[in-house]
Parts: sequence; structure tokens; C-alpha cells
Amino acid sequence: MKQVRIGLIGAGLRSGIAKYWHDPNGESIVVAAADISTERLETFKEKINQDAFVTQDYKDLLKRDDIDAIAVTSPDYLHEEHAVAALKSGKHVYCEKPLAITVEGCDRILQAKEKSGKHLMVGFNMRYMNMYRTMKGIVDSGAIGDIKAVWVRHFVGLGGYYYYHDWHGKSENTTSLLLQKGSHDIDIIHWISGAYTKKVSAFGGLDFFGGDKSNDLTCPTCDEKDTCTEASPGTLIECAFREEIDVEDNNVVIMELEGGIKASYLQCHFTPDYQRNYTFIGTEGRMENSELDGKVHVYTRRSNSWREYSDMTYDIKKAQGTHGGADPNICKDFVNLVLYDKEPLTTPLAGRMSVAAGCAATESIRSGGKVVHVSPTPSNTVV
Ligand SMILES: NC(=O)c1ccc[n+]([C@@H]2O[C@H](COP(=O)([O-])OP(=O)(O)OC[C@H]3O[C@@H](n4cnc5c(N)ncnc54)[C@H](O)[C@@H]3O)[C@@H](O)[C@H]2O)c1
Repeated sequence: MKQVRIGLIGAGLRSGIAKYWHDPNGESIVVAAADISTERLETFKEKINQDAFVTQDYKDLLKRDDIDAIAVTSPDYLHEEHAVAALKSGKHVYCEKPLAITVEGCDRILQAKEKSGKHLMVGFNMRYMNMYRTMKGIVDSGAIGDIKAVWVRHFVGLGGYYYYHDWHGKSENTTSLLLQKGSHDIDIIHWISGAYTKKVSAFGGLDFFGGDKSNDLTCPTCDEKDTCTEASPGTLIECAFREEIDVEDNNVVIMELEGGIKASYLQCHFTPDYQRNYTFIGTEGRMENSELDGKVHVYTRRSNSWREYSDMTYDIKKAQGTHGGADPNICKDFVNLVLYDKEPLTTPLAGRMSVAAGCAATESIRSGGKVVHVSPTPSNTVV
């Protein structure tokens, strides 16, 4: 195969990454899309490829011999159905995060991958951001020694817009935002420290969004649209204070990872500012990032020994492309995986383990903070 022919299931916001795959004279081309919304399919054709085959039934894509790979960019609760069906029909699969909304769902996807012999890649694009690749490289170089503790804060400014104005706000669609938004952060904790979560205890609440507004209220029709701080500035218009919302908007998770590494993770969706702040503490030093000024700081012990390193600050290079330049690179890696069997930075098991940790933390929150053990990897699954 010289060119990967890709079809997308889900032509919503995330389908925008198709532009990095659509290169008719290059190694990948986007030839099709499925979505239940004809409007979204029309926009997809305008933006990506006027000649693309489009359909409201994703199964039509799976029957076509002229499609080699499927990108699953549908809502979280459909990933399992779409990824399993695509693998069973002999397609390679790129699946957006979270891999699925239950651990069992992830395991069914991993099993379908194993049986199909096809490639499966999870959309952990944060692993492709210069900031986090730099941090991974620093830890792997041994500069801060063996990792013992991790502390992550994720302030999701505009969290209301992204997560409470549409399907994301209901637990039946996501399980919780620890899987939605948090699957990236949990994955970065796992990836950089080189260990998966074994057990968690967590607390969380729905303290800002949700409420008693009617489920069919929308921002444009609301009497309070001129004064409401959460009035939607974009296309997602369901009221962020509607009754049906039931996913926590702030969470604190304490985690114990393999090797006894301790981690704590705070995620909050109603902060005015946006940033992810990570610190990794090792036996020889501490590393912390600042997303706001694009730097990673490494502090090392003042010991007067020959092992002493200098404190270092890394300036992170800005890259072209969405998500800090991560999206063109993750898309390229999927093509390299399919064409040349080149291993990407992410693995299906990592996708499963971040969901498993997020599900365990959600269970802990909803049962008063009890310690919950993370479901171990099924032994019959090759990853
Ligand atoms: N890695 C990242 O940085 C990143 C960023 C954004 C979103 N995502 C992920 O991408 C996925 C999609 O998110 P989004 O923001 O594009 O959501 P969205 O709601 O904008 O798009 C989802 C699309 O799926 C369509 N759809 C619903 N049911 C369908 C069905 N049965 N068959 C086919 N299409 C169907 C919807 O009509 C919609 O167009 C989510 O899982 C999300 O976690 C990842």
C-alpha cells in the first residue's frame, strides 16, 4: 500500500484533523465520512474534500473496499461500537480519546484489535506536544532521578463551553470528565513516570454547572443571555445550568502508581484561566512546566557532590498546527503505523489504562472517596 485511504465516523469539531490526512498526492487521502447529521457532512465536504463519499450510516463505510482505515471521531459513548465494528470489517483504526467509556468497553476494543491483526491507535495528541515530549525526555535522561511523586493541576478555562453545553455534560455519555478531559492528563502522568495507576481515592462535585434550568433551554432563547457568564459564544448552545447535567465539574484524585509513585490530580472546569501545570519529583530533582510562558524548569539538589546538576530552564518551541502542533504529527504517525508498521508514541494499552484509572476515580468519587483498585490488564490481550 502506498497511500492510506481514510474514512471518518463523526464529522463534528474533531473531524477537523482530517485536513492533516487529506493529501491526494501524498501518503494519505480522506475519501469518506459518516455522520447522522447531513449538515455536518456538508460542512465536512466543503472543508476537507468535495468528492468525499458521505453517509448517515457508518456501516456503509465499513463495506467499502476503497477505505483502508477509519478514524473514530464520534462522541465517547460510541467509540466502542464504531472501533469494534471497523476492526471487525478489516480496517485499521485511529480512535479518539477516551478509548471507550468503560474498562470493559476498552477491553472489547483491544480484543477486536487482537483478532483482526489490524492497527489501532489512540488519539493521545498531548504526547505529541513539544512541552510534554521535552518533559518525557528530561525524565528519561535520568536528570531528576527515579520519579516518586507527581502533582498535576488542570484549570479548564472555558470548561463550561466545551463540556456543559452539549452531550459531554451527561455521565451516560462520558462516565465522567475524568475520562473526557482527564484521560489526557492521566495518560501523561503514566507516560512520563513510566508507571500505570494501581489504586485511587477521589473526591469531586458538581458545584458550578448544572441546576434547575429546563433541558430544552438554549442560550439564544434564554432571557438571561446578556448577563449569564456562561452564555455560549459559539455553536454549542444548550444551557450549562440545565437539570440533566450530572458530571462533576471539579475533582481531586489521589493515585498510587506501580512502584509506589504517588500522584495527585486536580481538574476544575470553572476557572477563568486555562492551564495545565505538572510537576514530577524524583530522587535527584524536580521538574515543573509553565504552559503560560512555554517553559519547563528543572531544579536539582544542592548537594556539593559530583552528582550535582545545574538548574535548567527549557524554552519550548512553538509548532505549527492545532493543539500546539500535535495534531499534524499524530496524524502523520498514524499513516506511518499503517504504511510502515512504525510504532507511534501512543499504545492501545495506554488508552485502556487511562480509562481504567478515570473509571476507578469516578467510582471512588461517587461512593464517598473509598479506595478503588484499578482493573488490571486482561492477560489474554496483546497490546
Ligand atoms: N484529542 C483531542 O485533542 C480531542 C479534541 C476534541 C475532541 N476529541 C474527541 O473527539 C470526539 C468527538 O468530539 P467532538 O468535539 O468532535 O464532538 P462533536 O459533538 O462536535 O462531534 C461528534 C459528531 O459525531 C456525530 N455522531 C453522533 N452519533 C453518530 C453516529 N451514530 N454515527 C456517526 N456520527 C455520529 C455527531 O453528529 C457529531 O457531528 C470525542 O470523543 C472527543 O473526546 C479529542
